[in-house]
Amino acid sequence: MTFGTEGLATCKEQTSHLASIPSIPLPSDIDKKLVVYPAKAPPAAFEAIKLLTYSSKIAIQFGYKIHAAVLNFVPRYRKARATRDALVRDRLAAAEKKFTAGASQESKVTCAVDLVVQREIATATKEDRKPMTPDMVSRIHNELCLFLFAGATTTADTLAWGLKELSLRQDFQKKIRDHMKVAHPKMFEEGRQPPANALGRPGNPYLEALMYEVMRRRPISCGHFRIATENTQLLGNDILKDTEVIFAVSGPDCSVTRL
Ligand code: HEM
Repeated sequence: MTFGTEGLATCKEQTSHLASIPSIPLPSDIDKKLVVYPAKAPPAAFEAIKLLTYSSKIAIQFGYKIHAAVLNFVPRYRKARATRDALVRDRLAAAEKKFTAGASQESKVTCAVDLVVQREIATATKEDRKPMTPDMVSRIHNELCLFLFAGATTTADTLAWGLKELSLRQDFQKKIRDHMKVAHPKMFEEGRQPPANALGRPGNPYLEALMYEVMRRRPISCGHFRIATENTQLLGNDILKDTEVIFAVSGPDCSVTRL
């Protein structure tokens, strides 16, 4: 997402590894035991991002100062940061090169880094200022590091729950498939998967409903937390400045599917 499907090539490497294996041994009691898929070690950048993502546990348990100290002084965390920063720098430079030639080429946007850089170059041209100054690059760099953190387990966990929900509802799976065949007849005839940008367009109501339902039933966070910066009102209630307001997104309704 942040750097496109080619970004870390994690899935691509695992897919080609699995494709190269002639067969996967199945357990004798397949109803009770799990199939073990032989996995290839993920790329170093993936491991680095994973280590940094899970390091948030240190902040939760011991506070931000200890977390910062660990990231700055413990060798494997320092190495992980260097690996991640080198990756972000490389991708940022590649996107800058791609869009300097023509910032209006929105069709070339394939991932978050492309979008941010394309918009920055287009805005700078419009405002008659120099694009991608060192300060701007450093700000974009930080945002991309946040994307790598915020987009990882959120997406993976939601997909995993989505697959589990789908596997439990074969009838709904069939319904989605049937609708997809109607929505993308050419792809179906040619035996191809519809590309992501086609799936994102309106015209796949069941697929859209599935995405909403998975996020409603399996929300990644129990709520949204905000602190009021001034005295205000919410749904007729007085909210004083500095009050923490929690918008709960999981509750009794989340245990009941509407599909
Ligand atoms: C199914 C996938 C995802 C789910 C369920 C999800 C969920 C969330 C939730 C619940 C929040 C907190 C919202 C709030 O309280 O304001 C959030 C924030 C955020 N997410 Fe995601 N997210 C997903 C994918 C991604 C991806 C792929 C990216 C980036 C590539 C991303 C980037 C962010 C960022 C940057 C924030 C912080 C926004 C801010 O407060 O400025 N997320 N996400």
